[in-house]
Amino acid sequence: MPQREQASVTRRQFGERAKAYASSALHSRDESLEMMERMAREHLGGGVRAGTVVDVGCGAGFTAAAMSALAGRVLATDLTPEMVEQARLVGRERNATGMTVAIAAASSLPLGSGAVDVLTCRYAFHHMADAERVLGEFRRVLKDDACFLLADTVATEDADVYAWMDRVERLRDPSHHLNRSPSELVGLIEGCGFRVTEQGEARVYLDLESWVQRSATPAAEVGELRRLLMEAGAGVREAFEVDQRGDDIRFSWPVMVVKAVKR
Ligand SMILES: C[S@@+](CC[C@H](N)C(=O)[O-])C[C@H]1O[C@@H](n2cnc3c(N)ncnc32)[C@H](O)[C@@H]1O
Repeated sequence: MPQREQASVTRRQFGERAKAYASSALHSRDESLEMMERMAREHLGGGVRAGTVVDVGCGAGFTAAAMSALAGRVLATDLTPEMVEQARLVGRERNATGMTVAIAAASSLPLGSGAVDVLTCRYAFHHMADAERVLGEFRRVLKDDACFLLADTVATEDADVYAWMDRVERLRDPSHHLNRSPSELVGLIEGCGFRVTEQGEARVYLDLESWVQRSATPAAEVGELRRLLMEAGAGVREAFEVDQRGDDIRFSWPVMVVKAVKR
């Protein structure tokens, strides 16, 4: 999809559903966010509230608000104006002093070169079609001794499982771009001038009903998603922990948390 079209699909998708994301328990706090907090705390030097963090694809602002307990200045940025507004409200509710917000594409951040100590990006990178450009922009805004913390859902290394996940994600949300395999994600980051220094694994636990409600997926696509999950083969069921009890279908996506530094 051309870049401009991708941006407007993303804005439409998330603009209409910003409030649903702001009340999502899994976005509010999970294992991936705890891992990012630990990595950021170590990088920023313990309890010292110093440094500048930028959170990219901030959504409803949960990662940015968490970072504001660790850093003096946090800028939460997102392409979707309605999401930025939710981030502003979440920051205020959580008393995130030092947190400001801005509407910005990940590939064009409103920051000077070498301005940032930690850049975070959680559950947003798989929506970004211009991944190399985005990583180049991340590298530009980071100081030489800064770090980049990424948490994102990933596929597996198995080609069939990978293709199944891609089909399911796209059916649910047309702004989805690509869930890479762990080796592909690390290769991409390292190919864009970073060195990965730490990798962690987590999972995001989903149930079909609330997952499609949050994204306002149309009924026909929901029916197809239900069929794909119910008829999934053993490899997919195992990789994504598919568990069906009557109409209730639960599954989980693997999540990768990566710390990278500039090479
Ligand atoms: C699932 S939400 C992010 C959740 C959030 N980071 C958190 O920790 O709760 C994905 C966000 O990515 C944003 N997004 C997608 N593509 C983007 C891009 N190219 N530049 C900036 N934001 C983007 C969307 O607008 C959406 O708000």
